[in-house]
Amino acid sequence: MPRPREPAPIYLDCDTGIDDALTLGYLVAAGAELVGVGSVSGNVSAELGARNTLDVLALAHRADVRVAVGAHDPIRGSFHGGAPGVHGANGIGDVVLPRSDAAPTGETAAAMLSRLAREHAGRLHVLAVGPLTNLALALDADPELPSLVAGVTIMGGAALVPGNVTAVAEANIFNDVLAAARVLDAEWPVTVVGLDVTMEARFEQRHLDALLEGPPVARALGAMLGTYFRYYTPVLGRPSCALHDPLAAAVALGELEPTLAPVVPVEVDTTEGPGRGQTIADLRSRFIGYPALPGTRHRVVLEVPTGFGDRLAEALLGL
Ligand code: BDR
Ligand code: CA
Repeated sequence: MPRPREPAPIYLDCDTGIDDALTLGYLVAAGAELVGVGSVSGNVSAELGARNTLDVLALAHRADVRVAVGAHDPIRGSFHGGAPGVHGANGIGDVVLPRSDAAPTGETAAAMLSRLAREHAGRLHVLAVGPLTNLALALDADPELPSLVAGVTIMGGAALVPGNVTAVAEANIFNDVLAAARVLDAEWPVTVVGLDVTMEARFEQRHLDALLEGPPVARALGAMLGTYFRYYTPVLGRPSCALHDPLAAAVALGELEPTLAPVVPVEVDTTEGPGRGQTIADLRSRFIGYPALPGTRHRVVLEVPTGFGDRLAEALLGL
């Protein structure tokens, strides 16, 4: 399964969002070769997500990274308005960052992805931590895309655990189920980092305290986390928060090696019933020893080493 053990160019697709902001900081701190970022509606609108992305990148001294505004609406239907209860009204915990002088590029996120796939043919890694609308649009517009991209890592889905929007659906998948199905059906290798592992990767109070006492970039990210902690503390039963998107980034970078990640078929339920948005991972091979089933190309991350919160905090404190 291709993933960038060697430094590889990365296109990030995100809906910035507090944990998306942490991810931007983490990618910068880890020295990732971030060649472009696209925004998509999810936690906030694609337009506000792009603004947040530009401002967080400038905060992290990477105002040079180009940002494209992506899809406002999912493939079918309309943007639902975001998740202010989780991420604050402005998506970054109502923290007001200095406004970056940089502006979004004129191209769409889907066009940026297609262009970068050609500029870095066979090497580009796609990391998607929001709804998958831009990736689906790029696949529709550019049938060669799967053959040009080295690998895709998504934060999304739930294989063996409950959803966080419905009983079975995770937010990034549920917010555009048709796009998710398109991305998982395409002939490219996808690493799926879902709630199975991201709900277990956490910042605790001590991490938040360390960030708030750290250098300016860490302090600003810590300030955003106040809102995230307020949402997650009753959910998790202690002052803490889940580290969805940064964990996916760590797996994509090869900084965190999963301890259990079978390669199996995964499909998305696009029906209108209670299963809508479920990511169905066909894990039968675990018990029955099937020869590879059709569509066996998705690496489903089910277990990762503990202690990611410590590693993430350390990285962010270095910014
Ligand atoms: C995902 O949904 C968003 O709210 C987060 O940024 C993360 O990408 C978690 O379900
Ligand atoms: Ca996100």
